[in-house]
Parts: sequence; structure tokens; C-alpha cells
Amino acid sequence: MLSESQCLQLTQSLGIDLEALMWLLLPLAKIFAMAPISRFQVGAVVNAGSKETDERFKLYLGANMEFLHQPLNQTVHAEQSATMNAWHQGAQPLYALAVSEAPCGHCRQFLNEFKINPKMPVIFPSGKDRTVQKTTISDLLPRAMRPLDLGNRTALMAEKGPYHKLSLKISVKDRMIDEALLAAERAYAPYSKNYAGCAIQTETGKIFAGRSVESAAYNPSLTPLHSAIARMNMAMLEENVSIQRVVVVEKTTNVSQRKAAAMLLESWAPGIELEYFTAN
Ligand code: THU
Ligand code: ZN
Repeated sequence: MLSESQCLQLTQSLGIDLEALMWLLLPLAKIFAMAPISRFQVGAVVNAGSKETDERFKLYLGANMEFLHQPLNQTVHAEQSATMNAWHQGAQPLYALAVSEAPCGHCRQFLNEFKINPKMPVIFPSGKDRTVQKTTISDLLPRAMRPLDLGNRTALMAEKGPYHKLSLKISVKDRMIDEALLAAERAYAPYSKNYAGCAIQTETGKIFAGRSVESAAYNPSLTPLHSAIARMNMAMLEENVSIQRVVVVEKTTNVSQRKAAAMLLESWAPGIELEYFTAN
């Protein structure tokens, strides 16, 4: 993530505008890609508001992540990584997006879940010479399937919430469980109400929390473990980080994260047993 002052320093010394800076940062974002299957590295940069600080905006980076020995649909796209990086850090709203490849249909639908200006600029390379192209989010997804089609009037990164007070079914004192519970309370689950959160602890004691996020088209949704892994990936450049614990807390409905999280863990952190708790 780059702060407003870091961005202004760069744009001033390079004599460029913010969108040009986002474009120049794409190769840096790509370095974080984890693509052992396709070897196709994708980077993304989002410009988003920063209401929790006195800065007007920040730039958040993201990159794609693939998981060995898992189905391809477990992949996290660069656009998802960058927007989740922003959302988990309290950013709001989204102002612009740059991607190192043309955004796929799945990402266009995923982005349709955010509360954004239909004229929000999206920047990506186009043509054989990969020159920079600028379009708007509504041009990318005309006649979209919308959250409102499922009766959902909320949106991702809207002014209020989402926030759903949950309490664990058992009483325990554990920082990791607290973090996962907090993430579950902030999950975006307007379709299933399966509020779910995850916390990952590394061997060095760092904790990364992830929330579940749903899409009106269901498939572009991300599990809380995917969000937490993406957050961790963007927060550290070290490879082969040892994982110590993984906790998932969820409010089960007719949807559950339990088996999916255990399945993903088997390949991402072999030998780590999922610690699982339900909340109401
Ligand atoms: N990919 C993205 O990250 N964003 C897109 O919109 C296009 C595709 C990634 C997913 C997968 O890891 C690889 O590129 C090949 O599709
Ligand atoms: Zn995509």
C-alpha cells in the first residue's frame, strides 16, 4: 500500500499524474503474484479513499494467487486481491483501478458488487503493443447482473457496514479466535448470511485476518481463508513463510466454509489442522 504522501512525492518527482503512477506500479504489484500453475502473473492497483486517516486516498496493490493440487476455481484474481487489500484496511470508496491484463468477466462481475461510480476509470493494456487503455467500469460490464436482482440493496465499501454482531457459541480467550470473529462480523454476505472470518498466524507471530465476500453471481465470491491468504501475500515479500495456526469462525446457514477451508489448507499449509468455531 502507498500512502497519499508517498504517491504525491512520486507523482511530483516524476512529473506524472496519479493514473500514470498506478500504471507504473503494475510491474511492482506483479512481483507478488503466486502463479505456480499458469506462470501468468497479473498485478492490480486500486485508488481508494482512506476515511480512517486524514489522507484523501491511498493506492493498494494486488496480485493473482493460484493453489497447487486444487481446482482452478480456487484462484484469486489480481483485481480481487487489490480490492480486498483495500477493503480489509478500511478503504472507501473505490476511485480507480489499473490492471496489468484486461480484466476477465469474472472480475468485472466481482467489481459490480462495490458501491462505485459507474464512470470509475479502469486502466489496462490493450492491443499488440499493450498501450494503456482507459475505460469505465460500466463500459466493461453492460447490462450487468446486479446485486439488486437478488434483492440486495447493500454494497461493498458502502458508507455503513457491513457489520453484524456475532457471539461465539463457546466462551474462550484467544486472540486468534477474536480476530476471526471480528472478521466474520465485518464479512460481506448479503446473499447467504453466512458471515465468516478467518485468522492466520505465522511462525513469527504475525496475524492476518480475512473476511468472506459474496458476489450476486455467487462464483466470484471469496472465502475468508482466500481473503486472509491474499492479505498475507500482499503484506510480505518473503516466500515459504511457516504457518502456525488457522482459525475460521462462521455463522452457518445453509452455506458453510468449513470443508472448503480444510481443503484449501491441505495444499496451502499442509499439516496445519483447521481450528473451527461457529457463532450466532
Ligand atoms: N487473472 C487475473 O488475475 N485477473 C484477470 O482478470 C485475468 C486472469 C489470473 C487468474 C489466473 O491466475 C491467471 O491470470 C490465468 O488466468
Ligand atoms: Zn479476473
